[in-house]
Amino acid sequence: MRVFNFSAGPAALPLEVLEQARAELTDWAGTGMSVMEVSHRGTAFTALAQRAEARLRALLAVPAGYRVLFLQGGASTQFAAVPLNLAAQGARADYLNTGLWSSKALEEAGRLAVQVNIAADEAASRYTTVPAPAALRLDPRAAYVHYTPNETIGGVEFPYVPDTGAVPLVADMSSTLLSRPIEVGRYGLIYAGAQKNIGPAGLCLVIVHESLLGRARADIPTMLNYARMAESASMLNTPPTFAWYIADLVFEWIERHGGLSAMGERNRVKAERLYDAIDASGLYRNPVARECRSWMNVPFTLVRPELTAMFLAEAHAAGLTQLEGHRSVGGVRASLYNAVPLAAVQALIEFMREFERRHG
Ligand SMILES: Cc1ncc(COP(=O)(O)O)c(C=O)c1O
Repeated sequence: MRVFNFSAGPAALPLEVLEQARAELTDWAGTGMSVMEVSHRGTAFTALAQRAEARLRALLAVPAGYRVLFLQGGASTQFAAVPLNLAAQGARADYLNTGLWSSKALEEAGRLAVQVNIAADEAASRYTTVPAPAALRLDPRAAYVHYTPNETIGGVEFPYVPDTGAVPLVADMSSTLLSRPIEVGRYGLIYAGAQKNIGPAGLCLVIVHESLLGRARADIPTMLNYARMAESASMLNTPPTFAWYIADLVFEWIERHGGLSAMGERNRVKAERLYDAIDASGLYRNPVARECRSWMNVPFTLVRPELTAMFLAEAHAAGLTQLEGHRSVGGVRASLYNAVPLAAVQALIEFMREFERRHG
């Protein structure tokens, strides 16, 4: 029995993808082996890797001049890889601080001898806002500007792409990539941990403009060096082959279901319905400013917090699972990634209304 899964990651995967993986688990692509048992340098896997990259490029309409890397270590490894690849020791970099993930990224850069300029800090709103475009204190000499378009824990999302002029824009799109169309050409570098809209944990996508390759510090670990990874088609060492394979199936599923425009439209409707239900209720509250509410992660609290544990337990019993807020903030969080159907959101809304009738 499949439940409705609202996890923030590892998040729900499309059932069609899981069924295809199950069907070909023991004999993949006519090899007589599972995809986990074949050489990553053999013809079958090399073809898969090329196909996955081509599908991703087509879905995102990646312009010429970008390299696409399939890496390991999750998004957190990129917190270190970005400064090591793009900023010389002591160089300046701008960071927009809009919540827990952006603050982790900037702390890591600070540890790696980057002079971090906090070009915006939303602490005063308790990270329920994003800075206005005119409020960004950008340094024109910065090596790059880093931001987090969607803060997965706070449920805060930028409704605009910062204009950084000639300074490369770097985005942690872990909770953004493949949720809707984006304009890749606005970015110097995009990275995303896979375990939300892309595939299983263990894979991290990096899309980087070629002009940013070759700037790495001399002492950078080889495995973090984008130029080396690009030269070797992301196969300097043994890549996470199973995760890469599932990502390819997910890309194919997105294609089959109308591409990123269709995903974006579905995601907008899902989020709107849930926010409307929260705003219309007397029991549930979402603290985020309306213009920057996330389509992917909808955190909310109960005005009677003593009911939260009962809410979560009853929701779980009703087949609405992994609704717990992040361990750092508590409360409730419904993550609405691509594989979460509208029916799941409708079931959640009905459960919330019914719970409120009984306890509100
Ligand atoms: C926006 C964002 N950045 C970074 C991370 C960290 O990702 P990972 O666990 O792959 O290192 C997460 C994880 O949820 C995230 O949501």
